[in-house]
Amino acid sequence: MDMKTRIAELITAVMAENWPEAQGLPAAGEIRGLLEVPPDSAMGDYAFPCFRLAKALRMAPPKIALALAEKWNAADTASAQAVNGYLNFFLNRVNFARETLEAVAASNGRWGAGEDGSGKTVCLDYSSINIAKRFHIGHLSTTVIGNSLKRIYDYLGYRTVGINHLGDWGTQFGKMICAYKRWGDKETVEKGGVDEMTRLYVRFGVEAKKDPSLEDEGRAWFKKIEDGDPEALEIFRWFKDVTLKDAMRVYDILGVQFDSYAGESFYNDKMEPVIEDLREKGLLTQSEGAWVVDLSDDKMPPCLILKKDGATLYATRDLAAAKYRQDTYHFDKCLYVVAYQQDLHFRQVFRVLEKMGYPWAKNCVHVAFGMVSLGGEALSTRDGVIVYLDELLNQAIDKARGIIEEKSPNLENKDEIARQIGVGAVVYTTLSNNRIKDIDYPCSKEDYVDEDGTPRTKYEIDWARALNFDGETGPYVQYTHARCCSLLRKAEDLSFPAPDYSGLGDDEAQALLRLIGRFPDTIREAAEKYEPSMITRAVTDIAQAYNKFYYEHRILDGEPAQAAARVELTRATRDVIRAGLALIGIEAPERM
Ligand code: ARG
Repeated sequence: MDMKTRIAELITAVMAENWPEAQGLPAAGEIRGLLEVPPDSAMGDYAFPCFRLAKALRMAPPKIALALAEKWNAADTASAQAVNGYLNFFLNRVNFARETLEAVAASNGRWGAGEDGSGKTVCLDYSSINIAKRFHIGHLSTTVIGNSLKRIYDYLGYRTVGINHLGDWGTQFGKMICAYKRWGDKETVEKGGVDEMTRLYVRFGVEAKKDPSLEDEGRAWFKKIEDGDPEALEIFRWFKDVTLKDAMRVYDILGVQFDSYAGESFYNDKMEPVIEDLREKGLLTQSEGAWVVDLSDDKMPPCLILKKDGATLYATRDLAAAKYRQDTYHFDKCLYVVAYQQDLHFRQVFRVLEKMGYPWAKNCVHVAFGMVSLGGEALSTRDGVIVYLDELLNQAIDKARGIIEEKSPNLENKDEIARQIGVGAVVYTTLSNNRIKDIDYPCSKEDYVDEDGTPRTKYEIDWARALNFDGETGPYVQYTHARCCSLLRKAEDLSFPAPDYSGLGDDEAQALLRLIGRFPDTIREAAEKYEPSMITRAVTDIAQAYNKFYYEHRILDGEPAQAAARVELTRATRDVIRAGLALIGIEAPERM
């Protein structure tokens, strides 16, 4: 049982003893939720605000705190002190150390994992890239936040379904086929991948300005895709394969996986029943020739369902997708990890589902995140304010490789470890702040002229900051983990007596133990708030606390029973950092 639960139960027992007649006192579960962690550990490890009891007991909080402190009789768990309306608890350091380390060891590297979600399903829509567009840093947040949330929910025992809702529908694909037929060839696209497709698309735009009839040709090709014309479909599917092949390389480097790639085109034959349903329920109204769901009661613009020409829209596909996911996976929650710019879109879609009478609509959640910019400039593919994801990752990996050559030239598997560190730096940067906060990558700019003679700017991320082994970065946390591993390797060659946990009574060890002890709660809070950054924060705090402990105390060469306890603390730290990093999608090399 964790400390918070134990203390909550003890408080409940003392309350019952003191005021057996009182009505309306909170139960242990609620008390646990009320327990606070004082900002300064000199004020205790936990504090219970007695205000919540004042009404039921008709007593002033300071008096309640005093009465509880007087009857408190659990020194083997914690001592209690009444201060203003609070009951402050100071854990029994020795017992706390023993129990925490034993519990972490018993969790077999899965500290804080649980069966909270047993029998429940969470669908996660993330990454959701667009076909024929190159994967750039604007897609990084959705990809790594979604991946982390999936791992967090898995860890808590939920069944998870990771969905890449591909943007694989729209008139632009007709234009691309038209451009390909006129100016492209198979080999160049195979070789150039998404870049070549983009070039064709851009060329279409330029040529269509000179010859507007091209627009009709593009539309005709799109119509062919819609009608299932074999040639059009074949080219379209091939574009999709080429894009996915490019994206897969990035997903492999990042260690990101999906259970489904059902994208927008998957819903082509699944919208008709939804539209029928909307019509039957009297929700469709006509507006300037288009069919919409009026949302003026909700102070939102209407949700567009069908265009004048009968074409469906992004929202129509999302309605069909939500329904399909519910019918197929029976989700308890469906998360959409998408930039906050799409806030209105999701509010509209969720509201329409509600109006359709689907009770599960309230379980659809838009997990929004902030904007990404480069050196203070908004991303723009057209203006070249862009860093492609594969370039970013490769740069990070190269730099990490350079640092390894310099610092640990004799390391084995340098390539593998460079990948782990480079990716760790990038993922950490993305998950280190609240997801809703905008991210600006500090970077340097260099002007150059490309092969077509167009002046361009190249953006290079400031790696000195992102790959720092000392500051708050991914590599710093990974390095702390490797430091624990190295110490444990040395400890293996020594023999120790049984650990003496009174050897962990110092402030540094206790601060570290408290952070480890709280980690399971942090995971649950991160799941509840869809906030992986809480895990990033927690592993960083643990790494910092361990390093403080490491510098202040000799670990291996102290008194043997104390050394044994410090080795156990190191082992727990290693396990918790490794598990925590895995939850945010970062690997933990044993040497670096
Ligand atoms: N492909 C879209 C974009 O890049 C994101 C799709 C998000 N998911 C969804 N179900 N709408 O903007």
